[in-house]
Amino acid sequence: MNDRAVVVEDLSRHFGRFRAVDGISLTVDRGEIFGFLGANGAGKTTTIRMLCGLLAPTAGKGSVAGFDIYRQAESIKKSIGYMSQKFSLYPDLTGRENLNFYGAAYGLDRKQIRVRTQQLTERLNLQDFVDRLSSSLPVGWRQRLALGVSLLHEPKILFLDEPTSGVDPVFRRKFWQLLYELAEEGVTIFVTTHYMDEAEYCGRISIMHQGKIVELGRPFELVERYRAANLEDLFVDLIRNRDNVNAPA
Ligand SMILES: Nc1ncnc2c1ncn2[C@@H]1O[C@H](COP(=O)(O)OP(=O)(O)OP(=O)(O)O)[C@@H](O)[C@H]1O
Ligand SMILES: [Mg+2]
Repeated sequence: MNDRAVVVEDLSRHFGRFRAVDGISLTVDRGEIFGFLGANGAGKTTTIRMLCGLLAPTAGKGSVAGFDIYRQAESIKKSIGYMSQKFSLYPDLTGRENLNFYGAAYGLDRKQIRVRTQQLTERLNLQDFVDRLSSSLPVGWRQRLALGVSLLHEPKILFLDEPTSGVDPVFRRKFWQLLYELAEEGVTIFVTTHYMDEAEYCGRISIMHQGKIVELGRPFELVERYRAANLEDLFVDLIRNRDNVNAPA
């Protein structure tokens, strides 16, 4: 059995002449929490959309859950959960209605949807929120509901694009506890974040800048290698130095 959840080799995506993703390579093992970090506009969301089978690459290779990102996008979509950067649930539906809608879209029957909704509502502590309009939920609860929707079909790989953006620290901590539990159950987690405390929770991280991966490794090993005080300093130094290199003279 292939124990790689994600394999990416020299993957690129151009928009016209602009190289949003410029030849990146990485692998993620099953059950790993991989932090996909980078500056704004570095190309993280573009990469995730290619890995989720939602955007065709310009060049390079990739497989997710053993499926080829060019030829088997539909199989990938069935094997993964995806939480997009933009809140993608229907704001004028309740949480339960969203779960029903997405459950059907994933091909679950009514009984499966009922059972999974019950399980996820309990697991995510959503009992008091699941029957409220999703637009009326505080951000932390809204993001937790979106996580629940992405877990409906019991995916083995989760792609989470800034899932805790705008979420308070206590809620972020709880959200990460859930991610840890999922990883312990064997779910692979590919997550982007701009919060460096969260990056420290990851098994490995990559740091992306202008379409390229500039570093990849275990958070504390990277901090040590660069003799940085912490991950935030390392991140800022790596990005700032490269911005300087690329700035016009
Ligand atoms: N459809 C598109 N057409 C043209 N340019 C695009 C398109 N999608 C993304 N880009 C550009 O590609 C670059 C990378 O965008 P992307 O959204 O992948 O960055 P990101 O790393 O996710 O940033 P952020 O941290 O702000 O979410 C940006 O300069 C963006 O403007
Ligand atoms: Mg993004």
